Amino acid sequence: MSEGEAKVAAIESRAIRVARGDKMILRGVSVRGDAGEVVGVLGPSGAGKSTLFRALVGEIPVEDGSVLLFDKDMTGAALWERARAGMAYVPQTPSVLWDLSVEDNLRVYHRVVHGGGWPRRASPGEGAAIARLAERVALADRMDVRAGELSGGERRRLELARALTRPPKVLVCDEPFAGVDPQQASRLGDMLRALADDEGVCVLLSDHHVAEALRVCTRAVLLLDGEVAMEGNPVEFQEHPLVVGRYLGNWGRSLPPPAA
Ligand SMILES: Nc1ncnc2c1ncn2[C@@H]1O[C@H](COP(=O)(O)OP(=O)(O)OP(=O)(O)O)[C@@H](O)[C@H]1O
Ligand SMILES: [Mg+2]
Repeated sequence: MSEGEAKVAAIESRAIRVARGDKMILRGVSVRGDAGEVVGVLGPSGAGKSTLFRALVGEIPVEDGSVLLFDKDMTGAALWERARAGMAYVPQTPSVLWDLSVEDNLRVYHRVVHGGGWPRRASPGEGAAIARLAERVALADRMDVRAGELSGGERRRLELARALTRPPKVLVCDEPFAGVDPQQASRLGDMLRALADDEGVCVLLSDHHVAEALRVCTRAVLLLDGEVAMEGNPVEFQEHPLVVGRYLGNWGRSLPPPAA
């Protein structure tokens, strides 16, 4: 890329407005994430973080503005079209197939992406692929366990495995650390960081485990009342008066200083 040439964002929203019911939740939100970046989208409950993520992945429509994936306009594209273009999503709400084993969950995801049919028709390369995925999210020794019996952290890792079934270019992760103990959250955080560092994935991350989110993100965006209020690197974010005043409060003082 020559100097002065603008880098193409992996994912970008341009002034999107999103309504839920008769209320405008997002009021002109522009965010971008580049390849190899982990971007934290943080802010108080109800600020519109999940709404933003759902609009980016195509689960809910935008009233105005646009969504671009590597400069391609995806504003009206269906969820599956965005998935095929490289977008993956871990929603805030639990979303595994509860009655199936971990292994069968991975099989179903693999068949959805790579062909095959449930329950009998396998997809090509499925056995080796799901074994690799299970290894990657540290669930190899939990293959026979029913998904409904997993711990919160294990379930989150299974959901991450689903999102990785088709290697993503953009991974949208809504509260991956919720209900996960600190050690597992830190492992999950490392996994997300490694996806960005080693595979150039653009990760968008929202979570109220702010210390962990700031540890792994390269940039953080503060969302307040459906608008971007500030953005900066983790140090700038943590110290910003709006972040302290409207989001972290006194609790922010107990946060370790993020690595510069
Ligand atoms: N289906 C819906 N119908 C009406 N209002 C909705 C709907 N979904 C979300 N909202 C409203 O949109 C606003 C933003 O919700 P959203 O879930 O995006 O917040 P959030 O920032 O993700 O919060 P949290 O940190 O608690 O997950 C809230 O006021 C919420 O009540
Ligand atoms: Mg949310």
